[in-house]
Amino acid sequence: MDFKQLASDRYSCRKLSDRKVDEKIIRHLLEVQRLAPTACNNQPQRIYVLEGDEAVRTIAKATHYIFGAKLFFVVCYDKEASWKRKFDGFDGGIMDAVIVGCHLDFAITELGLGTCWIGSFDPAALSSAMGLPDNHIPVAIFPVGYPTEGARPSKAHRDRKPLDQLVIDHR
Ligand SMILES: Cc1cc2nc3c(=O)[nH]c(=O)nc-3n(C[C@H](O)[C@H](O)[C@H](O)COP(=O)(O)O)c2cc1C
Repeated sequence: MDFKQLASDRYSCRKLSDRKVDEKIIRHLLEVQRLAPTACNNQPQRIYVLEGDEAVRTIAKATHYIFGAKLFFVVCYDKEASWKRKFDGFDGGIMDAVIVGCHLDFAITELGLGTCWIGSFDPAALSSAMGLPDNHIPVAIFPVGYPTEGARPSKAHRDRKPLDQLVIDHR
């Protein structure tokens, strides 16, 4: 599949079945995220894998965006390992975690599974429910599973602004 096709096929899947995801697939997804570039190659991403009913209860303490999943990747970065920009102290960990998240998102799509990027969660509640150390900052939750038969892209998936609103061409 070429990349534009993959980018077009990916959508926020909000109807996931509880069919178990094979361990080999989980391992493949984790290996793909390992290939992501990170600032200064510091590799500060920390991916928590949660599965099963207990996982659902844990995630539900921080967000109601579960969508029927039983498997979750919680993408964090280690703020003690991430690159900081010397000019202003900006923490590159968030960029690294987002790149890792994109790798996961596309790899999940490529395998015919579904997910939805979840940014709307209570970070304090999530950290407490998962027992995260203070230096692990959660950035995104990915509920993962097989799309149900009724799963469809939302209207928002086709709603993209025209290029002239997104690109400032200074050439
Ligand atoms: C950073 C980020 C955070 C998001 N957070 C949520 C969320 O908390 N809940 C949700 O249902 N969708 C969430 N989404 C999904 C967006 O709503 C979705 O990507 C957008 O509407 C475009 O639709 P599409 O992904 O189907 O193309 C998030 C997406 C991104 C990129």
